Amino acid sequence: MDSELIKLVNKLQDTFSNLGGELDMPQLIVVGSQSSGKSSVLETIVGRDFLPRGQGIVTRRPLVLQLINTPEPTDSSYREWGQFLHIDKKFTDFSEIRKEIEQETFRVAGQNKGVSKLPISLRIYSPDVLDLTLVDLPGLTKIPVGDQPSDIERQIRNLVLDYISKPNSVILAVSPANVDLANSESLKLARSVDSQGRRTIGVLTKLDLMDAGTNALDILTGRVYPLKLGFIGIVNRSQQDINSEKSMADALDSETEFFRNHPAYRNIAHKNGTKYLAKSLNQVLINHIRDKLPDMKARLNTLMGQAQQELNSFGDSAIFGDKNQQGGLILRLMTQFARDFVSSIEGTKVDIS
Ligand code: GDP
Ligand code: NA
Ligand code: MG
Repeated sequence: MDSELIKLVNKLQDTFSNLGGELDMPQLIVVGSQSSGKSSVLETIVGRDFLPRGQGIVTRRPLVLQLINTPEPTDSSYREWGQFLHIDKKFTDFSEIRKEIEQETFRVAGQNKGVSKLPISLRIYSPDVLDLTLVDLPGLTKIPVGDQPSDIERQIRNLVLDYISKPNSVILAVSPANVDLANSESLKLARSVDSQGRRTIGVLTKLDLMDAGTNALDILTGRVYPLKLGFIGIVNRSQQDINSEKSMADALDSETEFFRNHPAYRNIAHKNGTKYLAKSLNQVLINHIRDKLPDMKARLNTLMGQAQQELNSFGDSAIFGDKNQQGGLILRLMTQFARDFVSSIEGTKVDIS
């Protein structure tokens, strides 16, 4: 994620909480049919390999993933680590995190394809992330398999609806490009809670697996299905790539090459791919923060009025540090700081075109 944005959001969050408010960031919810590439997309957003992925039903419990920004360590301690709610242990090896998710899935949802609505809670602490919550969900499915009950379709649907109904959530509606979009379960569900398509981002995966001679240009340019935030085409790692442990960096390079060299996508290459998805998400977050600014400003004005009065009554001693009277000065510095940040974010423009 963009490090300038991370810094800015952190400072705004601190400032807002100092002002007695809260800058609650939206939750990103990944929705799609089974094996459409949800876990793969989520992993690339976070930029780490840590989720179980694969053919068939792999994600069988919701994973509520809280990213928590921590300062860069000044000593040799770990920069980033994961922590689950269900176990008191610091995970510094991300492949161990994947194993723990798998075990914890088995523990509650059984060995045989069962699904549980009981979420797994995982926090990832890192200097490279924004304070943000992402949710990975079991895939929408039609036909019960293994130990699944006969009404599995309805159960998963309700589970997904629980998450995407929240007005503060941003829906990443994943559809695989090698299946007709008219059959996209994720778009159907997203539309049922976001009829105007205002908080739904269409993510079209598996562009590399389309039949020869076909392409998804019409979908990607918004001519098939209307979404204000548009559709973004993605090429994730294939099962073969996963088996051969292809790195995230190499996968990103191949994806970039794919769009650049593809005759149908060459001209829209800059508006597709994982990096562009990350940029678009940043833009969604910035818009969200902008919407919160009036509230933050009103709080600031009130506080600044109070601070001004306080300063007036203290006179010069506030500035020259009479110990008992430093509150006024601190408040003044704090509000000045906050004001600077409000004006800096108002000037923030992320170029995503
Ligand atoms: P989920 O079930 O929706 O979470 O999907 P996963 O992320 O687990 O992916 C399911 C399977 O599809 C895995 O074998 C992935 O390697 C594969 N896959 C996902 N996205 C793509 C893609 O864009 N291209 C190709 N070739 N394979 C993909
Ligand atoms: Na899967
Ligand atoms: Mg999954």
